[in-house]
Amino acid sequence: MRRKLVVGNWKLNGNLAKNQSLISALVSKLKAEHAADYAVCVPFTYLFQAQALLAGTNISWGAQNASQFESGAYTSSISASMIAEFGCQYVIIGHSERRTLSNESNQKAARRVARVVESGLIPIYCVGETLEEHNAGTSKNVVKNQIIAITHGLEDDVFARAKEIGIVIAYEPVWAIGSGQAATPSQAQDMHLFIRGLIAKVDKDFAEKIKIIYGGSMTPHNAAALLSMADVDGGLIGRCALSADDFSKICIVAGKVSQVSLTNMADNGKKALI
Ligand code: 13P
Repeated sequence: MRRKLVVGNWKLNGNLAKNQSLISALVSKLKAEHAADYAVCVPFTYLFQAQALLAGTNISWGAQNASQFESGAYTSSISASMIAEFGCQYVIIGHSERRTLSNESNQKAARRVARVVESGLIPIYCVGETLEEHNAGTSKNVVKNQIIAITHGLEDDVFARAKEIGIVIAYEPVWAIGSGQAATPSQAQDMHLFIRGLIAKVDKDFAEKIKIIYGGSMTPHNAAALLSMADVDGGLIGRCALSADDFSKICIVAGKVSQVSLTNMADNGKKALI
């Protein structure tokens, strides 16, 4: 069974004082929770602070992007190996806000994924269709191309390393991000299953293990329904990650959903919900 993972994406938010109180509140609210994995992805400037406040807790931390280059004359870029120096575990790559703001292609995102994997960190690779693509009925085609960029675009040795370290896929329909209108649980499940099927074409075992998390207006109200879907292995949370109350509630729900499915497995001896 795949363990649920809930990741907060702080985006361009925070300052030293606010981060301190948000992180302290999260640490205290989640300290007794061990049934799922939790992480926050903070702006680069606060990686040091995240490390100082989160080391030794059950909450991991990470960054929101990494350069496709390792070093050199690339003013303002930050490499994956620099990020790794701050004890991080995760790096978000290919978020739709980055794809839009920097015109980032699937190929460039795949190169960034490669650098992250080479630095020993876990990429959270974001995929998802825009509203226009959704309305045009091309969502699966768009997502397929985004997935193929990593299943077929990475060098064999990098892909092998990615399987070892783990990659997280985040399905984030662009129309659901920050809109208050999340995908329905069945829409999310349908796309997650489709993504797992694409990965299974390359490696069946890896497809069973890989975490595919959902992002886009996940809240404490809709988290249980979304996280109960068999192929929804967690959440990537934007707005609600800025509230210790909301974020911790989602984290706790993720743990509960996992425990329910474990109990079902034990009690019924049949295929679990999750
Ligand atoms: P919201 O939760 O604010 O919709 O943002 C989702 C997201 O973009 C996480 O990366």
